[in-house]
Amino acid sequence: MKKDYLWWRDGIIYQIYPRSFADSNDDGIGDLQGITNKLDYLQGLGIDAIWLSPIYPSPDVDFGYDVADYQDIDPKFGTMKDFEVMVSEAGKRDIHIVMDLVLNHTSNQHPWFIQSMQSKDNPYHDWYIWRDPKPNGNPPNNWQAVFGGSAWEYVPELDQYYYHMFYKEQPDMNWRNPQVREALLDVFRFWLKKGVDGFRLDVFNAYFKDADFKDNPAKLGIRGFDRQKHIYDVSQPEMFPLLGEIHDILDKHKEAYAVGETFLADPKQTADYCGANKLHAAFNFDFAANRWHPLRFLNSALKWYASLSDEAWPNNFLSNHDMKRAASRYCFGEDDRRAKVAAAMLLTLKGTPFMYYGEEIGMRDIPIRNKADVKDPIGKTFWPVYKGRDGCRAPMQWNSEINAGFSKINPWLPVNKDFPMRNVVQQASDPDSLLNFYKQIIHIRKSEPALQRGDFTPLVEDPHHILAYCRALGEEEIVVVLNLSSRDLQFDLPEGQWKSLIDETLSFTGCMPLTPFQVEILKRKKE
Ligand code: NOJ
Repeated sequence: MKKDYLWWRDGIIYQIYPRSFADSNDDGIGDLQGITNKLDYLQGLGIDAIWLSPIYPSPDVDFGYDVADYQDIDPKFGTMKDFEVMVSEAGKRDIHIVMDLVLNHTSNQHPWFIQSMQSKDNPYHDWYIWRDPKPNGNPPNNWQAVFGGSAWEYVPELDQYYYHMFYKEQPDMNWRNPQVREALLDVFRFWLKKGVDGFRLDVFNAYFKDADFKDNPAKLGIRGFDRQKHIYDVSQPEMFPLLGEIHDILDKHKEAYAVGETFLADPKQTADYCGANKLHAAFNFDFAANRWHPLRFLNSALKWYASLSDEAWPNNFLSNHDMKRAASRYCFGEDDRRAKVAAAMLLTLKGTPFMYYGEEIGMRDIPIRNKADVKDPIGKTFWPVYKGRDGCRAPMQWNSEINAGFSKINPWLPVNKDFPMRNVVQQASDPDSLLNFYKQIIHIRKSEPALQRGDFTPLVEDPHHILAYCRALGEEEIVVVLNLSSRDLQFDLPEGQWKSLIDETLSFTGCMPLTPFQVEILKRKKE
């Protein structure tokens, strides 16, 4: 590996939603062997790591984000042996593995919770958050669940309520109990021993709640959860010493990494969780929320960079398993020109790029037409105002064969109807495809340390149409110019002669013409 290269800072992390990536046993659900079979594809794409959404045994009320055993593999995804093979085959290809740890809550089918429900004096009772009703029988406070209704579920047998920030089938763990803390820290140790390289921590800033369970103040909003200021149910100070402990565990393993999903946090709060003795990184949701406008992206990136301390490193993403895909948000119809600009932006801004499976072929969300077809329970709860997250979780489109080559039988979610034209095989053979464009930009990023860890300076010239910036490391300077508009434009380059890294036969001095949605990545020629 190249000098100074650090996989999680300089490389690219690719999120796989395992149910939907590749189905090796034709049961309609993706699996670990399916992922192993596609490692050559991923290596060819040029990624450095896979973030696997949860693969632990789960009743799937929240599709894996309700874990019933932290130290095993759900049989629908395969066996521990399949997992070990996947890790070792990925390692041979320099692909790191990042596990998704869902430690804020378990499934209500986890043996710990089943014990906890038995009686108030069961040793596991205090592993979860139980409270007596108010004298009038009401829940202990006004906290709401993200997925609808009160966050408190009453259990008549115990005459107590338990707390669940998400579904009632996802009871929150009591991180203030030292045994819980140890058991959950052991989960890190277990998977590190299995050879994984890092973790994505699901809603980690919700682990601790206010010790006195004070009511949240009200604010304007539509749903119950949005009508409160979340002062007491997330982001408590107790998280910081715990991050130090997690850091110490990771430090014992070479280049081990943790990235946090910061819930309900602005860029500043998100940044506060990153750095020495804290997380290596956390997700900045602000960036993916931008409208298609150069200034929006630029200001949001600058705000993010300014929030981070010198010891912290940014990351950037445009899509994940909880939101509408970037191609569906930004592109019109099947036109991929904006997807190419977005790809170039993601892969050349300062910060580790996170890609979401299928992004490289511009997969669009599937339409959700009928409530009866909805798989994601929040889609059912909030129908038709919000149709849930099925749209962005459809099967990967590998080829133009049955079910896009994902599975021989009907997959758990329908394949997007555009698959005969939009798939990996088709795009691999088209030199102008989005897939080949991603490969090219990834290759450029991997050849240029300045694009990996260089400083970032905006070049503001025509900020309503063009996003441009310089990435510099030592003597190397790279200028990225992205025409976000459908107009023919021009851009005045900084002094010197600039060689195009996109088309090495081209070089420019002074004024450079830009065609609609053109991407240019240029390197200053040394005198
Ligand atoms: C965040 C995850 O990304 C989401 O998919 C899940 O539903 C919630 N956390 C609850 O675990």
